[in-house]
Amino acid sequence: MIGDPAYGLLDDAALVIDGETIVFAGPRAAAPAYDRTTDLGGRLVTPGLIDPHTHLVYGGNRAQEWEARLLGADYAEIARRGGGILATVRATRSAGYEWLLESAHTRLAALCAQGVTTVEIKSGYGLDLDTEIRLLRIARELGRRLPVDVRATFLGAHTIPPEYGTAPNGYVALVCDTMLPAVAAEGLADAVDVFCETIAFSSAQTERILRRATEWGLRVKLHADQLSDGGGAALAARFNALSADHLEYVSAAGIEALARAGTVAVILPGAFYFLRERQAPPVAALRAAGVPVAIATDCNPGTSPLVSPLLALNFACTLLGFTPEDALRGMTCEAARALDLAHDRGTLEPGKLADLAVWDVDHPAELAYALGGNPCHAVYKRGQRVSGADSNETRRGE
Ligand code: NIG
Ligand code: FE
Repeated sequence: MIGDPAYGLLDDAALVIDGETIVFAGPRAAAPAYDRTTDLGGRLVTPGLIDPHTHLVYGGNRAQEWEARLLGADYAEIARRGGGILATVRATRSAGYEWLLESAHTRLAALCAQGVTTVEIKSGYGLDLDTEIRLLRIARELGRRLPVDVRATFLGAHTIPPEYGTAPNGYVALVCDTMLPAVAAEGLADAVDVFCETIAFSSAQTERILRRATEWGLRVKLHADQLSDGGGAALAARFNALSADHLEYVSAAGIEALARAGTVAVILPGAFYFLRERQAPPVAALRAAGVPVAIATDCNPGTSPLVSPLLALNFACTLLGFTPEDALRGMTCEAARALDLAHDRGTLEPGKLADLAVWDVDHPAELAYALGGNPCHAVYKRGQRVSGADSNETRRGE
């Protein structure tokens, strides 16, 4: 491995772990005494990756909608005709708990195999009380089944379900007065999200839901300004949101508001790519204003059927102007901030959790560079090796 100060990279380094926690990270020669060693063969070690925005629990898939879009159909138009999110809602409502759990398990295992140790999972394909609760319970169950910490987000306000088609405010009332209290009472969500968009919820409806979430003591985040500038970023900032996500159409005023509030911009390069968007999120302007910029897969069946964090990094660099270093920060320390977890993860330093990804690469730029394949050699979650080869193994070719 070549030391590269740009990544904070150290040659010949050691990590000392006590239980779940890193107690030393630095030059091997300076490491304090320890009683057991694992030689990682000179491989690159990064913090475990953090995917701060997914919708990975759902029924069915939308391959045929994608085919139609390739032939010229429009995402928003499909949604207005009752396809899009609503097609997945139909498939999700009719799928059983076990099937939803198993299919989500497979997707999450793919993320974990590429070094993800913390993931955010949203509900939002149920849109009725029972199904939304089922999706959130599955999200929690996935965190018990796999070596990954799950932050669950209630996205009951993903779109208006068909039974409220002519009375959207009735659905907003259901979200505020029935679903949110039930979700909060069962401790099923760590945050609340709303899709604020012309084809989903207006700013006034979004505001009503965010206010109620805050009353229940839940942090908020927003799908903001993805398809049009609806003032979503400024609204998120006003509620001190953890993150505002997508942001293709965010205005200059929205960027300023995010900077003032310290709200993280979560960029979703998979959705930008898969929808063949023309308008890129203004990443340079966000950075210039001092907004922290994270990256997520947005794993979902409609706009980003992506189960590879490394491809998300690649798309961010190739399509959206990230450097490989900024991209890696986007799925480590900045992603930790987007989930309010920066106090205990996202960097390799004393006091942080020993969530580590070990890579078969010579330089960290290679993580965002390759298209396909998997250079992840091993993963450690809270100090325990959860995947990869046995210890004290030398690297291939050495
Ligand atoms: O993040 N924008 C809204 N929600 C998802 C897409 C949902 C879908 O099309 O199923 C997103 O892009
Ligand atoms: Fe999303």
